[in-house]
Amino acid sequence: MIRIQVPATSANLGSGFDALGLALSLYNQVWMEESDRLDISSADHVAVPTDASNLIYVAAKQLYEMCGKPLSGLKIIQENNIPMASGMGSSSACIVAGMVGANHLLGSPLSPQELIEMAANLEGHPDNTSPALSGGLTVSAMDEGKVYSVRLPVADTLRFAVFVPSFELKTEEARSVLPHQYSRTDVVYNLSRSALMAAALSQGDLKSLRVAVQDRIHQPYRAKLIPGFDVLSATSYELGSLGTYISGAGPTIVAIIAPQDAKAFEEQALLLLKNRGVTGWGLKILGTDPYGARVFPESSEHSLNL
Ligand code: HSE
Repeated sequence: MIRIQVPATSANLGSGFDALGLALSLYNQVWMEESDRLDISSADHVAVPTDASNLIYVAAKQLYEMCGKPLSGLKIIQENNIPMASGMGSSSACIVAGMVGANHLLGSPLSPQELIEMAANLEGHPDNTSPALSGGLTVSAMDEGKVYSVRLPVADTLRFAVFVPSFELKTEEARSVLPHQYSRTDVVYNLSRSALMAAALSQGDLKSLRVAVQDRIHQPYRAKLIPGFDVLSATSYELGSLGTYISGAGPTIVAIIAPQDAKAFEEQALLLLKNRGVTGWGLKILGTDPYGARVFPESSEHSLNL
């Protein structure tokens, strides 16, 4: 069997709605091989669909069909470390794992660019799928099904305090609360900040991050769906956050922190929140992932090119 490792991703980074995304150092693992039937299982306690609706299988099958190859079945084993329906790119990780695995099993007929396009079209937007494939920070736009995605390096010393609540929020619900139209003032507000975010993260200009996470497209509407958001956000800034934002469609909240503040932040954040009546949140301190999805042949620690 081959093993595919795919990173979690944090989309939007506040102001870059459907455009910016960052790969983080938390990974799903998927083992995959061709089979004469569909055999899907979970390597951990996380329940996953074991029928043809499984997103890894859906993505793999689509790639086989695109390449004109019949797929009689697949054996898939999943280890899910990325929390589902949380704004950490779990569905993109499944799509990317299925496509990258299928592409490898077929001898890599699709180029990395073709994988980026196919994955974004299946997900509907590129801001999680592109960094899940490429690693690092990606800036993406879609134009008539084509994806233009540029990868930017990010300082690997930055840390991301990832607050994951015990409740889920489906992306469809989090998109359904957004307005259909915005004023020019709001559009300019976001355009300038999302460009600032890409530039600031790639150049390590940490003082700009607090303004760069600000947004008028989605966060003011989604924050109302996340009990405790205001207290959590204020607490994170008290503890030295450089910029705090709703990850993807939420409900996960991410605080960007300087490496020297990470230990104290981790020790104090949940305690302070508890004292302020905000409970039920987990906290992980993550770094960036520079690689994106990787394929490992069985029992090898060395990845192959996609
Ligand atoms: N950009 C997407 C959104 C990410 O905010 O709805 C969630 O998949």
